[in-house]
Amino acid sequence: MSSPDIDALKNVRDHREIALELQGVSRRFGGRAVLKDVSLNIRRGQFVSMLGASGAGKTTLLRILAGLDKADEGRVRVANARSVVFQEPRLVPARRVWENVVIGHDRLGAAKNDALAALDEVGLASHAEGWPKTLSGGEAQRVALARALVREPRLLLLDEPFAALDALTRIRMYDLVARLWRAHTPAVVLVTHDIDEAILLSDRIVVLSQGEISADFTVDFPRPRSRADGNAIALRTQLLEALGVTTEEPQRAATASAA
Ligand SMILES: Nc1ncnc2c1ncn2[C@@H]1O[C@H](COP(=O)(O)OP(=O)(O)OP(=O)(O)O)[C@@H](O)[C@H]1O
Ligand SMILES: [Mg+2]
Repeated sequence: MSSPDIDALKNVRDHREIALELQGVSRRFGGRAVLKDVSLNIRRGQFVSMLGASGAGKTTLLRILAGLDKADEGRVRVANARSVVFQEPRLVPARRVWENVVIGHDRLGAAKNDALAALDEVGLASHAEGWPKTLSGGEAQRVALARALVREPRLLLLDEPFAALDALTRIRMYDLVARLWRAHTPAVVLVTHDIDEAILLSDRIVVLSQGEISADFTVDFPRPRSRADGNAIALRTQLLEALGVTTEEPQRAATASAA
């Protein structure tokens, strides 16, 4: 039996180890339940990807985590120091690139230095004085990442940040995000439709189905990972099944139509 003091210490330690805690979270829009009794704990520094069909509630959940929306029911405990990157970079066209990185930044005295350091980390120091309209889609998204990181978040929320990018740029972005995550160690929640992206980057992959967490996979094989690795292939099959896409079906359909 443990004494109350030890329990109190344990609670403090647990609190520090957790970046995010959801307990029984529900959200309704116009009487329709979009999130249903979602419970999820994410450890500090853990990289979690979230997969799920369109309309499953991923963005709704991310907006609640970001403090942009409120749950109707349940408990949400989340690190205050959090940043969000959306599918589109959301830069202010009338501000220079470096100014965009520190928009809303408190410590104005150090703002430009912080912006330049963050831009350097995403490989865009030479664009600091430029304007957003001169950036490619991938560059603009890297500025959005720099803007997120300059706040040194304990929780980094990414809602399909690479979805609008071409395949090659996307692969470069995976490497960049992996490097930034190692350097800054925030917990990450990455919403994506790309199973390989989730496998390459994550410690853990959760599947959201119709507003409920229907699967939760630990990804513990070593990094850097390859799509062709046997572990990755096996996990991809499991994830497709969890998403309701069974790999046999197309073959059965092909056989049926050939018969
Ligand atoms: N503000 C809102 N008012 C009414 N309905 C909403 C609102 N926001 C989301 N919804 C509905 O909630 C459901 C879940 O939306 P959400 O954007 O969370 O899905 P998602 O999983 O992010 O989908 P996608 O993969 O297409 O981005 C959808 O049916 C959507 O129409
Ligand atoms: Mg969405």
